Amino acid sequence: MKLAAIADLHVDINKSYPVLECLAGYLKDEGADGVLIAGDISEDVLKTCTSAADLKRLAGIPVWYVPGNHDMWSGDFHILSTDQIYRTFEKDPNCLSNKGCLLKGRRETYALIGDIGWYDYSFASPQYDEKQLDAMELEGRIWQDRLKNQWTSDNRGCLRRSLERLEAQLVRYREYPAIVVTHMLPVREFCVPGDRAPWDYFNGFLGSEALGELLSRYRVKYAVCGHVHYRKRMRIHVPGGAGQGKAEAAGRYMTCICPCLGYHSEWKHTGVHSGDLRWQIEHAVQWIAI
Ligand SMILES: [Fe+2]
Repeated sequence: MKLAAIADLHVDINKSYPVLECLAGYLKDEGADGVLIAGDISEDVLKTCTSAADLKRLAGIPVWYVPGNHDMWSGDFHILSTDQIYRTFEKDPNCLSNKGCLLKGRRETYALIGDIGWYDYSFASPQYDEKQLDAMELEGRIWQDRLKNQWTSDNRGCLRRSLERLEAQLVRYREYPAIVVTHMLPVREFCVPGDRAPWDYFNGFLGSEALGELLSRYRVKYAVCGHVHYRKRMRIHVPGGAGQGKAEAAGRYMTCICPCLGYHSEWKHTGVHSGDLRWQIEHAVQWIAI
């Protein structure tokens, strides 16, 4: 089974480009059997649900996605609270939140599990204290979730609840190797590099060490994330525990994947003409063969 992974399509910010049509064409050309989207399809819950359904129809294959922080935004809290937005995603059949599934691979059956994840500031520099990080603002720059997402009044609680939802699915499917999709980063290595402001501060809103720690306690073979708008892949060794059999004690490997399409304004940094959408999609998509 050939799965494509991608994240951060941002179909509204990239509205001058036919993102869904081009992605569907590429998936068809490559013979993909399904596509995983690690959040940030758009900045509107209904547009995200519709876009996932449109991609499924255009590509003719299953689409599984998790919401990202942008998908959870609302410009008008009188219409939808962040909790209401999340519940809408839970009801969408293409969204993985609270409903894992099994995928029959060539040699093994895999569990596919996902949720947004959240952040607890663990990737920020220790020079910032809790109060500074709760402010979500540095040198006049505000992390936009503070303005558009009600969950940010309790970032640690939101992370805890997301980890509980993920763990319930990991327990349910614990006899299977797992592919876990989140929007937030499970590993520090995918954060913006360097130890200077402002990213030594804003890295605090990209993910959580506790998320990576949770995944390392279960048989997670692939961890797909987005959010940071990078295109990276890394295999990490997860040590085995003491008192286990020889094979378990040797540990195992988990492949972490960050396959972001990102904003069209960022594509110029790839050195290719920003109008070459197909090139950008081909270089953002990463493959998982099971
Ligand atoms: Fe994004």
